[in-house]
Amino acid sequence: MKMLVTGGAGFIGSNFIRYILTKYPSYAVINYDKLTYAGNLENLRDIENHPNYSFVKGDILNTELLNHVMKGVDVVVHFAAETHVDRSIMGADAFVQTNVIGTFSVMEAARQNNVKRFHHISTDEVFGSLGAEGHFHEETPYDPRSPYSASKAASDHLVRAYYHTHGLPITISNCANNYGPNMFPEKLIPLFVTNLIEGKKVPLYGDGLNIRDWIHVEDHNRAVDMIIHAGKVGQTYCLGAMEEKTNREITDLILQKMGFGEEMIEYVEDRKGHDRRYAIRPYKAMVELGWKPQITFDQGIEQTINWYRDNPEWWKRVRSGEYQDYYKKQYGEKQGMTI
Ligand code: NAD
Ligand code: TYD
Repeated sequence: MKMLVTGGAGFIGSNFIRYILTKYPSYAVINYDKLTYAGNLENLRDIENHPNYSFVKGDILNTELLNHVMKGVDVVVHFAAETHVDRSIMGADAFVQTNVIGTFSVMEAARQNNVKRFHHISTDEVFGSLGAEGHFHEETPYDPRSPYSASKAASDHLVRAYYHTHGLPITISNCANNYGPNMFPEKLIPLFVTNLIEGKKVPLYGDGLNIRDWIHVEDHNRAVDMIIHAGKVGQTYCLGAMEEKTNREITDLILQKMGFGEEMIEYVEDRKGHDRRYAIRPYKAMVELGWKPQITFDQGIEQTINWYRDNPEWWKRVRSGEYQDYYKKQYGEKQGMTI
């Protein structure tokens, strides 16, 4: 099996590659990544010498390179994206380019090279914002409200269109908020944990009562593995661990586990268009694939806090852009390179 993973130097993609090469050491895995601010080869330092792992530095907008790399590939798992909602509010250009046009470009290459499966990684944010009641599921109508979620919704539509129009053998997963090791310290959990390690306050948006549904990255990746191997072509799977929490509850738990009090909370101006609640009903994946989450939020958050405590060089360098400066100095803007 030859697998191409786009965005494999990011948070979820790097955990996915490690998971796959550990479970299926005979699979050949190509990591195709542009190494944006969020992509980091340090995330895969422990497996970079694995005989079946290779890395190609490339933009998913580079169709020529993609076509070349896609030769003989059986399965594409498409993680590459711009992913931070706050950045999409500041400027949506890269989100439209990478998430919409980039997805089109990866699918075109997959189509031309007759891949056997194209799995698209998406988010529950495409469904919009819930009130106090109800859950997202596979039949929920799309209603994205941030530039990030709108760009991911557009990509989901394109992926389905390629299935219906061209018969591209696709599957899609729409997953809840992930957390775990190697998450860029701009998102809620790693930002708060690293701020506290440095003795800084944590910025809670608005009233702190927005709700997210949290899943450990390993539970997410186990589900993606099952979808690739046993999911039905053309189908969508909603993934989540049924761990709904308000941001204030998460903050209190992190404060308590790290030995701080509520004086470390700083209530700050709310995010524009801040979605109130996300919650996933993952029954289809549970019934059809036999998947179920294995890591409780309490276990997962403890492991995650410990990982950030144990790896201060990683997040300090990531935060300062030191790795990116290094890649730039060493390799410039050249693509198609194996580093
Ligand atoms: P991330 O921001 O940590 O990593 C994104 C990766 O994509 C980086 O390695 C980056 O270098 C790469 N990339 C960006 N633009 C590229 C381009 N033009 N060409 C090639 N590579 C490019 O993201 P993540 O949190 O790991 O998310 C991965 C995927 O999962 C995304 O598609 C995201 O929408 C989806 N998702 C994320 C979450 C979450 O909570 N983080 C939840 C559900 C779905
Ligand atoms: P985030 O981690 O950015 O994920 P998403 O917006 O994709 O769900 O944010 C999670 C929640 O935490 C969201 O309701 C916004 C809130 N939040 C804060 O309160 N403060 C922060 O500094 C950040 C980054 C997020």
